[in-house]
Amino acid sequence: MDRTFVMVKPNGVARGLVGEVVARFERRGFTLRGMKALRIDRELAERHYAEHIGKPFFEPLAAFITSGPVVAMVWEGRDAVAVARAMMGVTDSAQAAPGTIRGDFSLSKEENVVHGSDGLESAAREIGLFFREDELV
Ligand code: RTP
Ligand code: MG
Repeated sequence: MDRTFVMVKPNGVARGLVGEVVARFERRGFTLRGMKALRIDRELAERHYAEHIGKPFFEPLAAFITSGPVVAMVWEGRDAVAVARAMMGVTDSAQAAPGTIRGDFSLSKEENVVHGSDGLESAAREIGLFFREDELV
């Protein structure tokens, strides 16, 4: 069974979409292994989005992701990384298929409601950034 890191971004929390996102992962059959609300500071934003530092969209991305509380989660299940990405839809919400989280709840490329790890390695890295081992059940 794989584990993936999923996060409801500040606009998703502000819009009251945490329950909606959690419900979709529960109904799909995933098991919740960790969940917390937190504020991402600049340092954590740089570590989480390290691959994007220096790109033109990094500063607005860092400003957005530190702009309010997020909800971080670890979900476990078959092909968790790939299935979670499929449930979220593509990065630009306007292109995301209806039925996906982004495709149902956003029109924005930047404020796209959720984050999901893009591979098994990033999942392990991101879970380690946001959770201590004793916070996972
Ligand atoms: P995420 O990491 O947030 O789950 O999103 P993703 O894998 O679908 O997309 P990624 O390429 O990792 O980009 C990270 C976040 O940066 C913002 N972005 N803006 N304006 C742009 O061209 C642009 N490209 C990316 C998005 O908020 C994206 O989620
Ligand atoms: Mg990404």
